[in-house]
Amino acid sequence: MIPRPLIIDCDPGVDDAIALLLALASPAEFDLLGVTTVAGNVPLSLTTANARRICHLAQRADVPVYAGCPRPLLRSLTTAEDIHGATGLQGAALPEPALPLPAQHAVAFLIEQFTTASAPITLATLGPLTNLAVALIQCPKIAQGIDRVVIMGGSLGGGNVTPAAEFNIYVDPHAAKVVVEAGLPLTMIGLDVTHQVVTTPERLTALENLGTPVGKAAAGMLRYYGQLDVERYGLAAPPLHDPCVVAYLLRPDLFTGRPMHLAIETEGSLCLGRTVANAYPTAAAPANATVIETVDAEGFYTLLTERLGKL
Ligand code: RIB
Ligand code: CA
Repeated sequence: MIPRPLIIDCDPGVDDAIALLLALASPAEFDLLGVTTVAGNVPLSLTTANARRICHLAQRADVPVYAGCPRPLLRSLTTAEDIHGATGLQGAALPEPALPLPAQHAVAFLIEQFTTASAPITLATLGPLTNLAVALIQCPKIAQGIDRVVIMGGSLGGGNVTPAAEFNIYVDPHAAKVVVEAGLPLTMIGLDVTHQVVTTPERLTALENLGTPVGKAAAGMLRYYGQLDVERYGLAAPPLHDPCVVAYLLRPDLFTGRPMHLAIETEGSLCLGRTVANAYPTAAAPANATVIETVDAEGFYTLLTERLGKL
């Protein structure tokens, strides 16, 4: 098997961190070309430092991290310290990253990679879509170097920031509109799926019982993370959003989805940032994304725990 060329765009954030660890633990499947960061869960300086801390924790300081956009295209930044803590990785005391931060901007890195790629690259986006949108506006021909974009974001049902909008899309709805209208091969993994993946005490204990620095850090972060969602939705345990993207790339058989026409609401206040999906595409509104609807949660956690145990 030839490892899939992969770039992860993220806003760590606890669930981003778990997703990064899952990818870093899978070198047979992924040639991780780099990690790009964006402002989202916490400001850019923290998402960037956190991405480097996670690479260091996984002993993969070889993976370069590039800082991207510090704010959405038009809106002011909305962050989520209530979910992820003031540092963005509450619950884990991670060492400072060793390697310096490359000078190249994340958008320039994306454009360089997608326009010079010898083989199409997969892009996993785990945060607001600002970096990808700016890259598309600056250099539309990056589309030729993209194999597929798998997005954690959106929802067929309700939101988690407003009743209508999921955080990643809500933070930068205009960037999301640029992306879904760019004609890219998109896969959307929204809250309908991620709310099926909840870190119960048994699953948390399995990670803790790995007895490794990675297992300890992951369990510590997850123990703190997402209690707000449990209270808000009455879930059994916090949903684990971003690792679903990496798990999908590793084991698509754990998921099911359908082609849909996806549009983003960028007007108004009540529904700003809503992902409007039509499961019955027409010639006027053809399918522009695969929208994932189900996941085998037990299979997901078996994969996650087994892989993190390798770090
Ligand atoms: O709505 C959940 C998404 O928003 C996740 O990616 C989380 O990390 C935040 O970015
Ligand atoms: Ca995220």
